[in-house]
Amino acid sequence: DTLSDRSISAVADLIKSGRAKRIVVMTGAGISTAAGIPDFRSPKTGLYHNLARLDLPHPEAVFEIDFFRNNPRPFYVLAKELYPGNFHPTISHAFVALLAKRKLLRMLFTQNIDCLERAAGVPPELIVEAHGSFATQRCIDCKNPFPDAEMRKCVESASAPNCFHKGCGGLVKPDIVFFGEQLPSTFFDNATVPQEADLVIVAGTSLMVHPFAGLPRLARDSVPRVLFNMERVGDFGTRADDVLCLGECDDGIRKLADDLGWRDELEKMWVD
Ligand code: OAD
Repeated sequence: DTLSDRSISAVADLIKSGRAKRIVVMTGAGISTAAGIPDFRSPKTGLYHNLARLDLPHPEAVFEIDFFRNNPRPFYVLAKELYPGNFHPTISHAFVALLAKRKLLRMLFTQNIDCLERAAGVPPELIVEAHGSFATQRCIDCKNPFPDAEMRKCVESASAPNCFHKGCGGLVKPDIVFFGEQLPSTFFDNATVPQEADLVIVAGTSLMVHPFAGLPRLARDSVPRVLFNMERVGDFGTRADDVLCLGECDDGIRKLADDLGWRDELEKMWVD
């Protein structure tokens, strides 16, 4: 086995010994809940359990392109709550930025659309935003981009903007990936990166949505995989070097930072 035991301190030893320097991180909504952004599937607090007021046929419809075409309003009600700018990154985001600073981050794959990885200081070229982000937007028909400032206004008033291009007038949608849409090319361009990892860290995701959910499995068998999550997910626990750190991811990350001797640096990066 690569690890002395299935513990966070063994993971810290691996990193400290210099045997993990191509770390691949995979994240989801759970790393942003401490920032005040709800996740999707947690009972009671998750977005999908709180969409009844939007009168949807089923919760996921809010992210379905065919539904959006006929009724964009529920998405824009949600967008107003999720729009970046009002939130501060968490300790877990800062930890990924610290890995990058120490040249240990091979790549971050995130499903999140909140842009908090960039806000925390993870270099953009090391982030694969697998489900897109709110950073840009375009018309769903003619695909022409739509200006940021206009978008911000529309999101603030929870109203769906229409394309400015003459003769089009199609609906405008942020470049986040809806069900029924292709993932961005950067996801596929980097699809073999998890095979290069010498350590995989997964945090805050239910691993319910494919193809993202298949990424942790791409790690080579001998490569340790660490899960920071409220619950066990995916196939975690089936490999000899899987480490499960169940609970608040920020708590687990702080423990790892303590064991690495990086805690002060991490807390400093987080407040800066
Ligand atoms: P989910 O809501 O499906 O899963 C979040 C996971 O994080 C759950 O397993 C929670 O238990 C866990 N969690 C929540 N808060 C946590 C905390 N503070 N510490 C540790 N764990 C915590 O979110 P995702 O897996 O990101 O797609 O969802 C995947 C995709 O489904 C999203 O990208 C979104 C959604 O439909 C699109 O928007 C296209």
